[in-house]
Parts: sequence; C-alpha cells; structure tokens
Amino acid sequence: MASRDRTQVGIIGAGPAGLLLARLLEVHGVDSVILEARTRDYVEARIRAGVLEQGTVDLLEEAGVAERLHREGLVHDGVEIAANGRRLRIDFRELTGKTVTVYGQTEVTRDLIAARLAGGGPIVFEADDVAIHDIETDRPRLSYRVAGEDRSLVCDFVAGCDGFHGIGRPSLPASLRRTVDRTYPFGWLGILADVPPCSDELIYASHPRGFALASMRSPTRSRYYVQCGLDDKIEAWPDARIWDELRLRLGSEPAPDITTGPSIEKSIAPLRSFVSTPMQHGRLFLAGDAAHIVPPTGAKGLNLAASDVHYLCRALLAHYAKGNDDKLRAYSDTALARVWKAERFSWWMTTLLHRLHPEGSFEAQMQRAELDYLASSRAAQTALAENYVGLPF
Ligand code: FAD
Ligand code: DHB
Repeated sequence: MASRDRTQVGIIGAGPAGLLLARLLEVHGVDSVILEARTRDYVEARIRAGVLEQGTVDLLEEAGVAERLHREGLVHDGVEIAANGRRLRIDFRELTGKTVTVYGQTEVTRDLIAARLAGGGPIVFEADDVAIHDIETDRPRLSYRVAGEDRSLVCDFVAGCDGFHGIGRPSLPASLRRTVDRTYPFGWLGILADVPPCSDELIYASHPRGFALASMRSPTRSRYYVQCGLDDKIEAWPDARIWDELRLRLGSEPAPDITTGPSIEKSIAPLRSFVSTPMQHGRLFLAGDAAHIVPPTGAKGLNLAASDVHYLCRALLAHYAKGNDDKLRAYSDTALARVWKAERFSWWMTTLLHRLHPEGSFEAQMQRAELDYLASSRAAQTALAENYVGLPF
C-alpha cells in the first residue's frame, strides 16, 4: 500500500484502544491511520485480559467485530470469591441484571485487526521512532520511520493509544502533567494451558499463601494466576509448582477439581495503579493504558480502554458531523470520572484479596471483616457486582 501523508485522526498504537477507535471512526465515516511499533504477529500473540463488560461488547458490536465473540465468548452470570475456607457466589444477573463475557484480549485484537485490514484501513506495523509535533496547532503531525525510510503524517487530531510505555503521554507538556501512582509489593504469575477449566465461573481466592485466580479462555483452555513475589523469576516457577500452589490456594470448600497440563504461556506482571492527568492537550488525546493503569484484580484495564475510546469517538464525531467541539473540550474530565471509579474498584479488590499483611495484624483483621461483611450483606455484594459488570458510560 502506498504510504499516506494525510489523515483525519492519526492513531499511535494497535492495542485494543487504537484498533477499536480506528474501527469505530471507520464505521462512522472518519478516516484514520494507525502507527504500531511492533509486528502484527507480536501484537496478535500477546496474552492479556479476559473479561469483557457488556458496554465493551456493545462497542465491539458497533465496530462490526462481535460475530466470533458471540459465537465463542462465554457469558458469565457471576463469579465466586473463595476466602476463609468457604466459597461465596456473587450473582451478577440477579444483583444487577447484567453479565460479563469471557473472551480473550488476544481474540479481540485479532478480530479488530482482521476487520480493519479487510476494510482497507491502514495499520503501519513496525513504525519506529514515532514522534508527535505541533499539537497546539490545528495541523498536528506524526513523524516516524519504516524500513529505514522517514515518513510524515499530517492529521487533524492525534490519539495516543500507545500504552503505558508509549510516547503519547510524555508528549503532553511536562508542566501540565500530574501523576498519581501506587505500586503493590507483589506480582501476578499467569499460566495458560490447554486443560478444561476447574469451574464454570471465575474463582477469586484469598488464601494465607496468597491470592489465586481461576479463569478460562474456552471450555478446553484455562487461564490461572497466582500472587508471587515482585522479584520472582519465571524459572523459579516450573509448571508443577504453579499447579501445586493453585491446588492449595483454590482448595476451599468445595475444592475445585483442577486438571493440570503443560503450560503454553507463562509470564509475571507487576501490579500498579497509575493515573496521569489531563488526558488531552491541544489536539493530542490519550486513551487506555497511555493515561492510566489498574491492577488486574477487577478485570478493568481493557474495559477502561474501551470506555475512553467511546468518549473520544463521540467527541470526534460531534466535531466532524456538527462542528461542535464541546465534547472534545470535555474529553479528559468525562473519561477521568469513570477512570477514577474503576481505579477505586481495582484497588479495593486488590487490597481485599491479596496477602499483604501478617496474620493477626490490624490490616489482616480488617480484610477478614470486609470479607465476612461481603458474605453477609446483599448491599455489599451488589456494590461489587455493579462495579465488576461495569459502571455505565
Ligand atoms: P496496549 O494494549 O498496551 O497497546 C498499546 C500499543 O501501542 C501496543 O501495541 C504497543 O506495541 C504500541 N506502542 C507502544 N509504544 C509505541 C510507540 N512509541 N509507537 C507506536 N506504537 C507503540 N488487564 C486485565 O483486565 N486483566 C489482565 O489479566 C491483564 N493482564 C495484563 C498483562 C500485561 C503484561 C499487561 C501489560 C497488561 C495487562 N492487562 C490486563 C491490562 C490490559 O491488557 C490493558 O489495560 C490493555 O491492553 C490496554 O489497551 P491499550 O490499547 O490502552 O494499550
Ligand atoms: C482474567 C484476568 C483478570 O485480571 C481478571 O480479573 C479476570 C480474568 C483473565 O485473564 O482471564
């Protein structure tokens, strides 16, 4: 394809945020070009999140990429919380009338890339040294290099959808940026294996040995996580040790029947809460992990990227269709109002379920009391369910 030097919206990053934005703009007649640092294979192989809120599913429908999701995605009516020797079911459908869909981020990414390329929309993979210029003018520009050749893309707007380590966020003036940050003293070790899941629903377990999560990708593929040390190396976790630990941590009454098998992917991720404000300056707008990170416990990272994209897309459409920039001006405040609530929920789920403090300490006792309260109160369960299925856009 001939290289493009002009577009309406220049998008940096072909993760869920950038790809979804491009597709939504495309179905509404707005042109965009995506610049992605990595190869298509790399982007499509990354194993990450697995739980989609209804609002995210609705956006994927609007983007015309929900056919396989509806065929293969698993609709879940609830989750289980295993703690203090018992399992508590949180019934989303009964408490909120809503459900979530288990469908891997990897699959969402593949569907979005396939639709984007089938529609003829450009994705420039392996774009090196992407830089943003002139964001305070109405003709911002992206410079980049592909296969050793320097290129330039003039845009009306730039969307920084390039994740936590991207160049979008640092391209806002440092004097305007404020960040808040919390790191947690543990990580998550994830394992993917072609074995049937141990339960029909996800199990979040809080155990004296540490947190564990039983999740899945399909009736024949399981995804599990265990809380591990921040400095733990993957070599210290042979498959057998992970399965042993899962059996112990998930082993509350009734104990789930865990089928073990060789891992097909294993990785360790740190946990972090992070918000950078504002999410816009001039004609540069940030969406997704470029602006904020949540610890994965509440399954919110991908869903927040989707809600940012929803607000940004509506704002851009109002500009192009009606010449109205009110929503563009309000974008950062609108998106952040939802971001902060998801940050709160993710932090709360993380501190509720992880092993953070010695047994018998005040904090450990508070954790136990909170779990007891959750088990006894429909109001507390409703609050968890409402946040987990996703607050309204
Ligand atoms: P990303 O998915 O990070 O996409 C950004 C894209 O921009 C990438 O393709 C990147 O290659 C590209 N890019 C970066 N820099 C540049 C540049 N300079 N130029 C061009 N392109 C660039 N969430 C959960 O809810 N549950 C989980 O279990 C979970 N696990 C995770 C595990 C890991 C290791 C990570 C990193 C995240 C995980 N998340 C999880 C979070 C969730 O995956 C993210 O919130 C989601 O991917 C955000 O999408 P995004 O499009 O904003 O960013
Ligand atoms: C998955 C990841 C999460 O962070 C979570 O809270 C639930 C499920 C998963 O990868 O399946």
